Amino acid sequence: MLEISKKLEDVLNRALVKIFPKEDRSNKTSSILSGTKLLPASKPEFGDFQINCALPLAKEIKQPPRQIAQQIANHLQKDNDYLQICNAPIVAGPGFINISINSKTLISEIYVRLNDERLGIPLKEFSTVKKEEKNNNRVIIDFSSPNIAKEMHVGHLRSTIIGDSLARVLEFCGYEVLRINHVGDWGTQFGMLITHLKEVIPEALYTKDVVEISDLVNFYRQAKKRFDEDPVFQNKSRSEVVNLQTGHQDSLIAWQLLCNQSRKEFQKIYDRLDIKLTERGESFYNNLLVDVINDLKNKDLLINDQGAQCVFLDGFVGKDGKPQPIIIQKSDGGFNYATTDLAAIKYRLAPPPNGDGAVRLIYVTDAGQASHFFGVFQIAKLAKWIPIDCQVEHVPFGLVQGDDGKKLKTRSGETIRLVELLDEAIQRAKTDLIDRLKTESRSENESFINKVSTTVGIAAIKYADLSQNRISNYQFSFNKMLSLQGNTAPYLLYALVRIAGISRKGGDLNVESQNILFNEPQEWNLIRKLLQLDSVIAEVEKELLPNRLCGYLFELSQIFNRFYDQIPVLKANEPSRTSRLALCSITAETLKLGMNLLGIPTLERM
Ligand code: ARG
Repeated sequence: MLEISKKLEDVLNRALVKIFPKEDRSNKTSSILSGTKLLPASKPEFGDFQINCALPLAKEIKQPPRQIAQQIANHLQKDNDYLQICNAPIVAGPGFINISINSKTLISEIYVRLNDERLGIPLKEFSTVKKEEKNNNRVIIDFSSPNIAKEMHVGHLRSTIIGDSLARVLEFCGYEVLRINHVGDWGTQFGMLITHLKEVIPEALYTKDVVEISDLVNFYRQAKKRFDEDPVFQNKSRSEVVNLQTGHQDSLIAWQLLCNQSRKEFQKIYDRLDIKLTERGESFYNNLLVDVINDLKNKDLLINDQGAQCVFLDGFVGKDGKPQPIIIQKSDGGFNYATTDLAAIKYRLAPPPNGDGAVRLIYVTDAGQASHFFGVFQIAKLAKWIPIDCQVEHVPFGLVQGDDGKKLKTRSGETIRLVELLDEAIQRAKTDLIDRLKTESRSENESFINKVSTTVGIAAIKYADLSQNRISNYQFSFNKMLSLQGNTAPYLLYALVRIAGISRKGGDLNVESQNILFNEPQEWNLIRKLLQLDSVIAEVEKELLPNRLCGYLFELSQIFNRFYDQIPVLKANEPSRTSRLALCSITAETLKLGMNLLGIPTLERM
């Protein structure tokens, strides 16, 4: 529909220039006419688009709004480009103009989508700047990013699911996406971890694979406890940090070992969720930190505050209302989380070969880090590291809560392990499936049951997360996410399964007919919905809200179900039968593409 609305906008602008010549416009008129004038219809019965500008114009030029609307409508009707696409405009109410796309155009849009992998959506075109100077379609999405030697928690799960979906959407649009896992693999905590490791499992330094992660999380706790309680241990840990930073062989081995153990555990989750990521952890930026300090110093942005190197930003105040510094280098010479992020932003935006030369940086983390990123972005701006044509964005998300509205915990009050969360979703999907098979008197083999429950379980977890506006907190409920009713993964999967069923019953979904014809409102409704896919994807590309795509797929499934329940497909006469099969086929491809962009696996039977 994007192309159609673009053509209509051009037509409308031509008409408006004729009626209100640019040189005669008052400021107010200009501002009314410079805004968006072509809106999607507020109700389907009004058609596809609506033009409302006659109302504010009427006030300004003191003419009845309906008269203005009629004038605009008359001009549209005389324009050949308009007539090609739409039915006659209708002036309605106090002065709205309702526009509907004509059936010829709708049908030709159906032909465009038939048997086209991209469903008629072109790849974005990028201006061709020399690759050595800039990768002008390169986007970096920094997501997942758990911390070494700690367990990945539900916040990281959200980041992983949302980040992956954004990556898929931008890749589909034609961007080159670097999916960066900014793991917390550096910092003073390694001092205590390595000290503890050397003391309790000295053989770890020369024997492979002696620590396991469930141990490692526990191991972290033990090390922390000792660090908090024992001053001697504390001192050793501090010198261990220095050893690591200055590259002592055995400290590096211990560090690698801890990282490898964590990595293996993280990878298990990524494999199960089908997530691809490139690890480039905090340690990658180590030798770039000094440059950050020097650069900020040269640009007069650093202030020495009690020995620490700080940046003070306008509007950055603490709870007490006093200006709050962002510490870039601590008084002991150490660096912070923010310092690493400054080095990262600089590197990601710098042209190759000394950087990634990306044009858009996206950071997917919980909303609690909003002020951290606000600060980092501000400093990067002041330091002039962000070229004008580049965008940096924090994509925040809310907390995961349990059914009770409190932070998600196990029954015994501990943090939930992600592996167990996935297992439980799959197990519950399996129980539901077995029940359903019984009521439907179906018998299916073990491998079918396992495949379906794994797919449904994973799909449900991902979809439940993505279908919420990410900014709000989200209530985690196995019951809701696994339900076959409502805006859930099983509901969408089921629509696809129904369509696959049509094909099993003999409906050929590879429609090649040149004789497509529609006459029922259920068909037109479905077509109109199918046509919206491109604008929904464009919206997600811009606003980075995957829930918009979920909402669209849900509405599409509902409209499809109504179509399928209310009018015959396989039993219809030709050419309706083939035409309706064409709609089934495009609906299935749209759902599959949409779910693929969300990272959600699909099924033929369930
Ligand atoms: N490791 C951090 C955490 O667990 C998230 C890192 C996000 N990315 C970044 N560039 N700061 O909270």
